[in-house]
Amino acid sequence: MRIVIHENYGSMSQWIAHYVAQKIKSYNPTPDNPFVLGLPTGSSPIGTYQELINIHTEGKLSFKNVITFNMDEYVNLPEDHPESYHYFMWHHLFSHIDIPKENVNILNGNAPDLEKECREYEEKIVQAGGIHLFLGGIGPDGHIAFNEPGSSLQSRTRIKTLTYDTILANSRFFDNDVSKVPKKALTVGVGTVMDSDEVIIIVNGYKKARALQKVVEEGVNHMWTVSALQMHERGIIVCDEEATMDLKVGTVKYFKDIEQSSLQLPPL
Ligand code: GLP
Repeated sequence: MRIVIHENYGSMSQWIAHYVAQKIKSYNPTPDNPFVLGLPTGSSPIGTYQELINIHTEGKLSFKNVITFNMDEYVNLPEDHPESYHYFMWHHLFSHIDIPKENVNILNGNAPDLEKECREYEEKIVQAGGIHLFLGGIGPDGHIAFNEPGSSLQSRTRIKTLTYDTILANSRFFDNDVSKVPKKALTVGVGTVMDSDEVIIIVNGYKKARALQKVVEEGVNHMWTVSALQMHERGIIVCDEEATMDLKVGTVKYFKDIEQSSLQLPPL
């Protein structure tokens, strides 16, 4: 697992966006051979999305032949609710780039049969040829997507009940009122993410420091589900200085040293 440490949120976001753009471009996607990208919501990827929009606006990147799969969605929240992940993705990314609507896949938390919805989502990923690159965030309790502590590290797309920790963290988007936060969500599984060719996890800010320490310096553990990344052949954690506060000085020095040359922006 690589750990790439940037000075701040801005440089981190710019680097991730360039990395993703470079992957898409070098793949040279076509309608018959599209690039398949997994995407998260949350505050962490907003800077990356902004940078991807900038790269696109400068004419350096097209999403015409990119297929996306989002990680998760709340259950029973209307799609046009400002806190639904559908709304988030169109607002922060899709409306500003040239991705065809039919290439966007987001779980439907209002589907009449939620289990069927989850099953079909997995099938769609397989039909698309699997995910080339999955971008993800991390919850303060170390979760990926909505794979809360204790989730099977082999889990697939399914319905999950959210923990109080997550409901509390996400209440900042619902007038700080925990009773307004949906209690269930549909989410890809840890196994779904780990099946991707490559995974990048975005970790920024002090509030993620404890989770980062568990995921990097301790073993693979279902209580900190991002730690499954240790078993991935091509897993990268990209973080800012603030998020490294609970890591050992030696760990930070080690990764800074070996990643020194990769801090420059990947060329486009
Ligand atoms: C939610 C999402 C996760 C996200 C996490 C952290 O739980 N389901 O995918 O990584 O929040 O969000 P933020 O980036 O806002 O800290």
